[in-house]
Amino acid sequence: MKAIEIRNKYLNFFKEHGHSVIPSAPLIPENDPSVLFTTAGMQPLVPYLLGQNHPKGTRLTNYQKCVRTNDIEEVGDNRHLTYFEMLGNWSLGDYFKEESIAMSFEFLTKELGIPAEKLSVTCFAGDEDCPRDNVSAESWKKAGISEDHIYFYGKGDNWWIAGEEGPCGPDTEMFYDTGKPACSENCQPSCDCGKYVEIWNNVFMEYFKNKNGYSKLKQKNVDTGLGLERMAMLLQKKETPFDTELFLPIMKKLEELQKIDSIESRRIVAEHLRSSMMIISDGGRPSNLDRGYVLRRLIRRMIRHLNKLQINLDDLSTLINLNVETLKEMYSEIEENKQIIKTVILEEKNKFIKTLANGEKEFQKEINKLTQTKKISGQVVFKLYDTYGFPPEVTKELAQENGYDIDLKEFEELFKQHQEKSRQGSEQKFKGGLAEQTEETIAYHTATHLLNAALKKVIGKDAHQRGSNITVDRMRFDFNCDHKLTEEEKKEVEDLVNKWIKEAIPVTKQEMKKEDAINSGAECMFVEKYPDIVTVYSIGDISKELCGGPHVSNTKQLGKFKIKKEEASSSGVRRIKAILIK
Ligand code: SER
Repeated sequence: MKAIEIRNKYLNFFKEHGHSVIPSAPLIPENDPSVLFTTAGMQPLVPYLLGQNHPKGTRLTNYQKCVRTNDIEEVGDNRHLTYFEMLGNWSLGDYFKEESIAMSFEFLTKELGIPAEKLSVTCFAGDEDCPRDNVSAESWKKAGISEDHIYFYGKGDNWWIAGEEGPCGPDTEMFYDTGKPACSENCQPSCDCGKYVEIWNNVFMEYFKNKNGYSKLKQKNVDTGLGLERMAMLLQKKETPFDTELFLPIMKKLEELQKIDSIESRRIVAEHLRSSMMIISDGGRPSNLDRGYVLRRLIRRMIRHLNKLQINLDDLSTLINLNVETLKEMYSEIEENKQIIKTVILEEKNKFIKTLANGEKEFQKEINKLTQTKKISGQVVFKLYDTYGFPPEVTKELAQENGYDIDLKEFEELFKQHQEKSRQGSEQKFKGGLAEQTEETIAYHTATHLLNAALKKVIGKDAHQRGSNITVDRMRFDFNCDHKLTEEEKKEVEDLVNKWIKEAIPVTKQEMKKEDAINSGAECMFVEKYPDIVTVYSIGDISKELCGGPHVSNTKQLGKFKIKKEEASSSGVRRIKAILIK
């Protein structure tokens, strides 16, 4: 079964079971510096898991584009991917364990045709925070899993939370038995030998964790995630995701073009190219900071492995074209953004090859100096990064090829110091900006809250803020919307904002616990970004948002609001430029 068929079956199945299909959020959470990429389907849904009403109801499903980069170095083996697609379904205070498990079982056995005896499941064993999950185990038995295929593990295996703080709970995981011989008498789903492959994770989110410990959420949620590439690999009886239709065309092409054979390098090129293309398509650009730096590392590592395969870098264009053809069936945006994807990757390639040869020479010089040790110091790794643009994993690979190791810890220390310095630099700039905060920018800031509220009234609750930018002479606002606004809609939005301005509504400020703020229905673009105690700005009962301010004290100070332009920003996102006339 092809990946796209699995995706379609999944979404249809959950649709038939009362779920609304919602779009994938972009890989890059806009204007949120606190998370690099979307790493799970639940991430954009946090406000709803915490109790806010979702406009599409209490049962949701989607496919979500995800990037996880903690394992970049592992890519090249037979399973790690930085980009993957997660199929998910959610209950927002609707069904819970038994129904969720019954649906998962039905989907796996009936829709995908996996025999029940190939499945094993794991449940939470219980501890002082949360009791043993017998309900899940019983539900599995009832669904058709035999008792000897049910395992219990502790928090390390059967508890899910994104990061340190947030909604969380025990989970139940489903494993597929590949039929490989057991590695020992003790071989179990938790074992790493490859016999059991995890395919799906259902999280029963009824807790919230913060520094003070666990508390119960307002509602019991279900959050599930199924890795598409892995499922395609298993159903197609392939050993690795690189043997599925998602990667085969490019893997074959690389084999055709290569002059030196290396399966590892081919996988790295294929994986990093796909990941980079997806990130660029969603607006990512290479840089030396945060997510831009991840993208830079992906592209540069890919270039070095093209070099290792002795593939002419002029062929990169062909490889991108080929990948567009492979990916467009699943991600139409890849075809729409083909040109920009190409430009970004080729520009980054040109930047890197300028320094690559010199960096490699420098590297040789440095290792020639080493007589007593086989370890390259963090300082040298940093110099190669800083002067020649070598990501550390590139230096590490070079080192390993020559029988050396690197002091990654020391590098990371130096890198942190360096990033800290540039961050201070930009904070300085930012502070400067705030110091220059003018009456105009403050007024635009309040107008932004009004516009946000007006769009929700005119377009619908789904019109979430996706970005905002203010200068002394205009405001710019990005929001979710699947269509170009009509003249009527624009006028309605404008009229509404002007009506609120005329009504001379006071703007009030309140400090409260983040949890209480969210529970009270305050708008918040990125819940994780805020500290425990937050400031909430309210404009009568029109708008309530988590926000650092500052704002005007009364809407009458804004003048007349006028929309100057309405245009597309990216797929599913519209942009409004507006001014205030005093
Ligand atoms: N959030 C859970 C995970 O990432 C289920 O989707 O595994």
